[in-house]
Amino acid sequence: MKRRTLVIIVAVALLGLVVATAASILHDGLSSRATPSRFEIMMARNVRHLAIPSNARLAQNPLLVSPEDLRDARLHFADHCAVCHANDGGGQTMIGSGLYPKPPDLRLPETQSLTDGELFWIIENGVRFTGMPAFSNGGEHGGMQDSWKLVHFIRHLPHLSVAERIEMERYNPKGPDDRAEEQQENDFLNGATPQRKAESQDHHQE
Ligand code: HEC
Repeated sequence: MKRRTLVIIVAVALLGLVVATAASILHDGLSSRATPSRFEIMMARNVRHLAIPSNARLAQNPLLVSPEDLRDARLHFADHCAVCHANDGGGQTMIGSGLYPKPPDLRLPETQSLTDGELFWIIENGVRFTGMPAFSNGGEHGGMQDSWKLVHFIRHLPHLSVAERIEMERYNPKGPDDRAEEQQENDFLNGATPQRKAESQDHHQE
């Protein structure tokens, strides 16, 4: 009986999603620049909620919050997540705003009301049919520990300080231009501007 109810709920949710998606495609075409309707967002969240196994949803964070772990997670977020989610979790980035669905503002109640287990599951498994990647398959992401630390960090996002955000900027992935600029700044701060060095060498050779 319970199983049947669940099947009916899923069927209704999927049907709703199909209708909402069809309506939105008719309205906006297939552009990912469009903003999903509230109904579409609600249906997508409900389907996702059902897709996360209930024991995973109830999982407790095995790590206690510590300043060291929070810092680790903050820098990790700056390096791997901020391209889409922005350092402050607001989602206002060049990549984020071009995705459909867009990354939600992680500081708002919609995200903060998810359980620790749900946040962990989403980080580990990603969200299918969206830009949210799964991070459980290793790489620089150091396994479950890192994901649980990130869960603590997501809880901290609504209280992120300006100093913390500025520190994160140093850990955002950089392109060659940013690196060159940073190198120049460092050279300048170390007292020798590259041009002067070059000049004095020239004089020496003459
Ligand atoms: C390539 C872009 C991208 C990257 C990189 C990315 N995300 Fe996401 N993320 C998304 C999108 C898009 C969604 C919205 C998915 C949806 O609509 O269900 C999302 C959703 C989420 C959610 C669910 C929020 C909610 O309320 O539904 C969490 C939590 C999250 N991301 C955490 C992270 C963390 C932590 C990282 C880094 C380890 C990360 N994301 C990296 C694009 C990204």
